[in-house]
Parts: sequence; C-alpha cells; structure tokens
Amino acid sequence: MVVTSHYLASQVGVDVLKAGGNAVDAAVATGLALAVVHPGAGNIGGGGFMVVHLKDGTVTAFDFRERAPLRSHETMFLDSLGQYVEDLNHEGYLSVGVPGTVAGFDMALKKFGSRSWKTLAEPAVRLADKGFPLSWSMAESFKGYASDWRKFPASAKSFLRSDTVYYQPGDIWKQPDLAKTLRRVQRSGRDGFYKGETARLLAADMKAHGGLITEEDLAAYEAKERSPIRGTYRGYEVISMCPPSSGGTVLVEMLNILEGFELGAYGHNSAAYLHALAEAMRRAFADRARYLGDPDFNADMPVARLTSKEYAADLRRTISLNTVSKSPPSTLQFPEEDDHTTHYSIVDGEGNAVVVTYTLEYWYGSRIVADGLGFLLNNEMGDFNHIPGRTDSTGDIGTRPNLIQPGKRMLSSMTPTIIAKNGKPWALIGSPGGRTIINTVAQVVLNLIDFRMNVAEAVSAKRIHHQWQPDVMRLEVNTTSRDSERLLEMMGHRLRRNGYQGRVMAIVIEDSTGVRWGASDPRDVDAAAVGY
Ligand code: DON
Repeated sequence: MVVTSHYLASQVGVDVLKAGGNAVDAAVATGLALAVVHPGAGNIGGGGFMVVHLKDGTVTAFDFRERAPLRSHETMFLDSLGQYVEDLNHEGYLSVGVPGTVAGFDMALKKFGSRSWKTLAEPAVRLADKGFPLSWSMAESFKGYASDWRKFPASAKSFLRSDTVYYQPGDIWKQPDLAKTLRRVQRSGRDGFYKGETARLLAADMKAHGGLITEEDLAAYEAKERSPIRGTYRGYEVISMCPPSSGGTVLVEMLNILEGFELGAYGHNSAAYLHALAEAMRRAFADRARYLGDPDFNADMPVARLTSKEYAADLRRTISLNTVSKSPPSTLQFPEEDDHTTHYSIVDGEGNAVVVTYTLEYWYGSRIVADGLGFLLNNEMGDFNHIPGRTDSTGDIGTRPNLIQPGKRMLSSMTPTIIAKNGKPWALIGSPGGRTIINTVAQVVLNLIDFRMNVAEAVSAKRIHHQWQPDVMRLEVNTTSRDSERLLEMMGHRLRRNGYQGRVMAIVIEDSTGVRWGASDPRDVDAAAVGY
C-alpha cells in the first residue's frame, strides 16, 4: 500500500513493490516521482525525514534536513541597525538551505535498499522527460504563482507555457532540465547531485544571484541516521522523528499528558476533549520553543525528560478541566501555516513500513528553479529563529537552540510517525502544515486509539491547532457544535476559524488479517492510496 499526495507517485511506489522491491526502495522511487509530479513540496532541492520500522523489529530514522550554508550567520536576516528585513529569510537566494533529499535517499538505500538508483530513478526520469497530464488544481496553482515565476527566468521556463500563456488542465507538462538532473542522480546516486555538473551549476546560480551555497557546501552535506523518538500511548508504541525535527518529541509529550485523561468518555471533539487537547498542546509547544534545535549543535537538549511519563504527570497536574491556563498575552496577528510540505506512507508485502515527510518549506519553496537544473530550491532558512532574542506572542521565537549557525539544521515540525502494536507496525501517519503537523498527527493517533475510528474516518475528522503562542485555538469549520464553541469560550479559549489543517496520508494494518487500509486526506486534491 502506498499513500501519497499524487496518484502517479503512488503508482510508481506500487510498481516498485510489485516488482519485488521493498518499502525503502519504493520510498525512494516515490520520493523522486513526487519531485516531478508534485512540485509544490515533492523535491530534490529540499529536505526531510524518513522513519523506518522493518518487519524484523529494526527501527531507525534518516535525517536529510537542509543545513545552513557555511557562510551563513546568526544575524544574516537583520540589517545594519539590527532590524529584521521582512521576509528576507523566506525570499530569494539567501533563504535557500543546502538540500538534503538525494543524500537521505542514498543513505537509506545503502542501508536497506534492494534495488539500484538506475531502477528506482527511472520512473521519475520518464515522468519528467515524457511529461504527464496536469490536473485542474496544478494548472490553477501554476497560474496562481505566475508573478513569482516571472521573477526568475528558469522558473518561468518550467511553470509557464510562454510569457503570456498558462498551462491548462490536461496539458502534458514536461520538465527536460529536471530529467537531465535526475539522470545524473540515476547514474551516480548522491554524487550525481552533490558533485559534478549539478553541484557546479547550482553553485554558479547561487554566486550569480548573491546566494551563499558553494560547491564546498554541497560536497560537505551529510544525511544522518538517527534513533527515532520512542514513546508509548495506551499500550501502543509511538515511533516518530527526533530532533532536528521537534515533531516526535512534542507528539510524545502531548500524548503522555493526554494519557491521563479519559478522552474516549469525553466524546470526540466535545468541548471537554478539545480543552484537554489544547492544554496539552500549549505545554508541549512551549517546551518546543524553549529547548529544541539541531542536536549536533545542542548537546544538552532534555529530550528524554520531555518525553518521560513523569514529566507529563507534572504538567498534567497544572491543567484545570474548567479553565484555560495562562499563556503570555497574544496580539492579533500571527502567521498562518499552510500545507506546504508533503507526507507519504508505504507498507510492503513483507510488512516493512516507511514514512517520509519532506518539504521545500513554502509551497514551491523559494519559487526559484535552479538555472539549468530544473528543480525548485527550498526556502528552509526561514525555519531558523531569525531574530535572536525575540520571542513574542505573534509566534516569533528567538531562542538560542534554533539560531542560525554554519552547517546547522533548522528546527522542523515534520512528524513522520509509525504506531506499533505487539512489536509490529500498525499505523503510519504524517502530514504537511508547519507547526500544525504535530497536532494533526496527534489527533489522527487519538482518533484511531481513543475513538476507534477506521483510518479513513481518522484522517477525515476535523482538527484543531494550538501552539502556545499566539494563545488561540484554531478550528476547522464544523469541528464542533456552536454550543461546544460557546463552552470553550466560557473556559477562556479564544477561538479562530482555520482553513484546512493538514493533508494526512495514512495506512493502518489490520492485525488479524494483515490487510493494509490506506487513506489519503479528502482535503487533498490529486492524492491517492494505491494498493495491490
Ligand atoms: O519543517 C517544517 O516544519 C516546515 N518547513 C514545514 C513547512 C510546512 O509544512 C508549512 N509551512 N508553512
């Protein structure tokens, strides 16, 4: 079963499985295919995380998060007066982190793969070279970003039919430059991206436009194998991404707090349930801001304590069931977090499970297509704390663990998660959505375990978000009744309507039969769960 944000990529994964490849092989082929057919977030110019649970019980994670260029520094987004230059961390060549995806896939293949780069990159090469029909949503989206494409000639070449003509639904969209880059990766794996022509062209593009990434940065990039965060929730095991993602740590902290409440008895999306949820979120997100960053630069992060049952019990005692706790006061503005990332879940016939969440940060990242290379560059530098020392109620965080340093990975919220039962993978979950990702994944876990929903119901159910600051509970439309909304307000919650929250791609493996049930989020458009 392969569940992704694009039906063609899901099919690529299934084809690998059918041909005898394992879940890691399929994850690489699918990831490369998404870089072609789902350019908003699928990528080779960004980064992300893969969590693996093999049928023999092996559990591990691959970190291919982008890194700050060697010439970057803590105040690079401030002007000479120390003022933040609005959006500089998200716009233009300075916003680009050193990409990690190809290195991550290469490392995962070396460890667990049974197929070659030649085989696994072929479907992506073909999709880029021969093209594929654009859906209405992709054609509309390309048009919607036209003013961005026009800023960069290589971007206009990729995403606009001509200067004045837009792609239409049903048009066959080809990416010849991307096909060439993917062929180099197909031939040489990691080196096809981080050395030779790809590296040379990327460094030259950077140099010509004031970017920081050099050939040295690319050659020095390393993916890392890490031990995922492991927790338990009502007898299930929770396995999720460790720092430099905050996802697994915050997820386990929240679930540990919530384990002490009879959530099932409260009723799904009742006022009592949403209150308990928001109070757990508030606490875990405060810890996220205070403590978390790249583990290679923050040796003293208290991850073990944050994910312990004892700590959760201490926090639980501070929760009142009738009133909100104090967060620092909030102002009116806060950044919306859209679904600018993508997650996919794969289980093979043997029962090996792989979850991947990877991203360019914004939808289409920096919107810059690397000149001559055909792929979009991320704007992940925006995930660093960009104003040292400024943590405020707008959602800005300026704490030290996530300040920019050369070679450092920016803190993420991506939460590729596997829930295991009796030592075997049972549920695979993940989502886009910036900081909302962690809360989205948590609610799908609760839907499955506390409310005994099937995977499609668990993925579809309405969700909320609270991130400590600003002190606001955001709800999707019709998450709960008007009456319950009033009750929440009487407890002191400030409610805000949210658009869609997340696009979950999930699988549940039925323990009695081994049947794999896949569910793609109805909030997504071209997504599909494909099995065989
Ligand atoms: O790593 C992260 O958590 C983010 N860069 C993911 C981006 C996202 O999902 C939505 N961005 N606003």
